[in-house]
Amino acid sequence: MTIQDNFKKAMRSYVYSVSIMSNIDDNKNLNAITVSSVTSVSIDPPSLLVCINKTAGIHDSIIKDSKFCINLLKKSQQDISNLCSSFQEEENRFKNDKWDTTDIPFLKNAQANIFCKVDEIISYHTHSIVVAKVTESKYSNEIDTLIYVDGSYE
Ligand SMILES: Cc1cc2nc3c(=O)[nH]c(=O)nc-3n(C[C@H](O)[C@H](O)[C@H](O)COP(=O)(O)O)c2cc1C
Repeated sequence: MTIQDNFKKAMRSYVYSVSIMSNIDDNKNLNAITVSSVTSVSIDPPSLLVCINKTAGIHDSIIKDSKFCINLLKKSQQDISNLCSSFQEEENRFKNDKWDTTDIPFLKNAQANIFCKVDEIISYHTHSIVVAKVTESKYSNEIDTLIYVDGSYE
């Protein structure tokens, strides 16, 4: 087993929540990607970070001062996680009535919606670490968050 194999195995035993990062780019294209790497950074300023693979479709639309939403999924929304983590489904991600696309696209029935503005982008090998300021947060009081652990949803 390589260092990488052992690291992957160790990381699979973490319990993750699952979010969809969504935005609209300058050409009015809607983008969405399933992410588990969302972490809060600070309360003052309210900020979070998310790590995005440089090969992901959404990557190049994430630029300084651009806006996006982090949509934390409910247990009933595994299908949206599958849509936004499968390259083959790229065309279908917004072909449903789950989204409000009036402005920054967001999932209407998510566990939480955290609206953000990109502050810093740190390049690290294959990934960009995106640090963003939070502009608005909405949430459901009843906790029913989709969980991902050891490669499976719970
Ligand atoms: C549970 C889960 C969590 C993921 N977390 C991330 C993540 O934090 N960052 C990332 O770049 N890709 C993550 N991925 C992989 C992307 O969702 C996937 O590669 C996606 O297809 C890339 O977007 P694209 O198809 O538009 O290129 C995750 C996938 C799953 C299933």
